[in-house]
Amino acid sequence: MAKISFVLNGKTVEFESDLNRRLLDVLRDDFNLTGPKEGCGEGECGACAVLMNHEIVNSCCTPLANVIGKSITTIEGFASTKRYVVIKDAFAKTGGVQCGFCTPGMIIATESLLNKNPHPTEYEIKIGLSGNLCRCTGYNLIVEAVKEAAKNGEGLW
Ligand code: FES
Ligand code: FES
Repeated sequence: MAKISFVLNGKTVEFESDLNRRLLDVLRDDFNLTGPKEGCGEGECGACAVLMNHEIVNSCCTPLANVIGKSITTIEGFASTKRYVVIKDAFAKTGGVQCGFCTPGMIIATESLLNKNPHPTEYEIKIGLSGNLCRCTGYNLIVEAVKEAAKNGEGLW
């Protein structure tokens, strides 16, 4: 057990825990933040994605030791931003959501992409979302959602 401190959705959290625990488990089990999902559990699907210091990471592959002193944003924290509203509305409008399991990760990946590249080409969107799998939509509607978000959120990124 070790003392842990990091910023979670804008607030500093401090607690004792095993440094080898997965961030995904800590978020879901200790903080009841169930937006990040467990899909593959091995870094392939992006369902567990969160932002760490504004960079996308798969929380299933992130040990707590790597999180000390960092800033973590889950979909729950991101949901209080204007950018979230633009992305969420774009996914809803284009039909980029079906069962919704992948959606928190897709939204986090979209934020990460647009934060670096506010005007991505279709190819850049596909590359940007290549770490996130969806079993339902066939991806085209998700790509359209990202284009829509980039257009409607002009100036936010
Ligand atoms: S559950 Fe983490 S990448 Fe799939
Ligand atoms: S909407 Fe079902 S997995 Fe993507």
